[in-house]
Amino acid sequence: MPANYNEKQIPIDTKILKTLRSAGAGFVSGADIANTCGISRAAIWLRIESLRQIGFEIEAVPHLGYKLVSTPDLLIADDIASLLNEDVIIGRDIQVYTSTSSTNDIVLKLATSNVAEGSVVFAEYQTNGRGRLGRSWISPAKKGLWFSVLLRPNLSPQLSSRIIIMASTSLVKAINQVTGIQASIKWPNDILINGKKTAGILTEIGTELDKINYIVLGIGINVNLSKGDLPQTLSKTATSLMIESGSKVHRPTLAAAVINQLDSDYKTLSKGNFTIIAEEWERFCETIGKNVTIHVGDRIIKGRAEAVDTDGSLMVRTQHGRLERVIGGDVTLEK
Ligand code: BTN
Repeated sequence: MPANYNEKQIPIDTKILKTLRSAGAGFVSGADIANTCGISRAAIWLRIESLRQIGFEIEAVPHLGYKLVSTPDLLIADDIASLLNEDVIIGRDIQVYTSTSSTNDIVLKLATSNVAEGSVVFAEYQTNGRGRLGRSWISPAKKGLWFSVLLRPNLSPQLSSRIIIMASTSLVKAINQVTGIQASIKWPNDILINGKKTAGILTEIGTELDKINYIVLGIGINVNLSKGDLPQTLSKTATSLMIESGSKVHRPTLAAAVINQLDSDYKTLSKGNFTIIAEEWERFCETIGKNVTIHVGDRIIKGRAEAVDTDGSLMVRTQHGRLERVIGGDVTLEK
């Protein structure tokens, strides 16, 4: 079930929060907010009261108006929407579930119901979060960003890896904007900090003849997980932004930064400028130039990762001197 606080008043609350934010640390008069939103001052007051009840701290001073003091660390569709750039494609519809099996499942349903691209579905908690290669994805409540995006790129299925290249690049940039942390990318889709995984991407693709019908871009970011939230088996390989930075990260701020960045990079990709993204990706990717072991099903490929091809595949120089193109797999970086 979607969380109640996101139902009904989406446009009004988004407008109110946007207007309050546009004043920075200043006040906005009730009359100005009422004008912008096209409703009465009394109706604004009611909405402000209900925002306060879900954790927004909004100061009210006679003759000055309202000031947004702080916002809760909850995923609220109207709040995230109020932080997005104008005319976004990704993020034009946002839904938040308190709990669901997997946000990829929800977006897969939207994808097959002919919903337009750009919808983003978050869950505060996933009961059956899925990772790559049939693994599960730990998704504790209110500690991370677990979400999926519906895309319908005008790409042939062979170029679908470009979406993963794009998304991993967007994630590194957004994490840096919000936390100052410089993360890196482990091909094909892991985001690492100090060598440990902080975020992952799971894409599920529907094709029609030689065309992509949809891509469900599922993203999991370990934001405020503490060491105790991670299972013992992952303690050496996984981490979170909070563990690495030593402080809590405000998830709605990060959610909006990720959506804005994805939207901007998706527009770059859609205009045919993949090389701009690929160059950024190569700067962030720590796999290139390293000796790697890649498990592809039952096959093991060992060699030196030399480059990423235009379709997103990894070019590996094997021990026998051959250049192999690897489309996907599980990579271990050798020391
Ligand atoms: C991986 O690195 O193995 C990919 C992890 C992807 C996890 C995200 S969380 C949101 C979306 N829903 C899922 O069930 N999985 C993805």
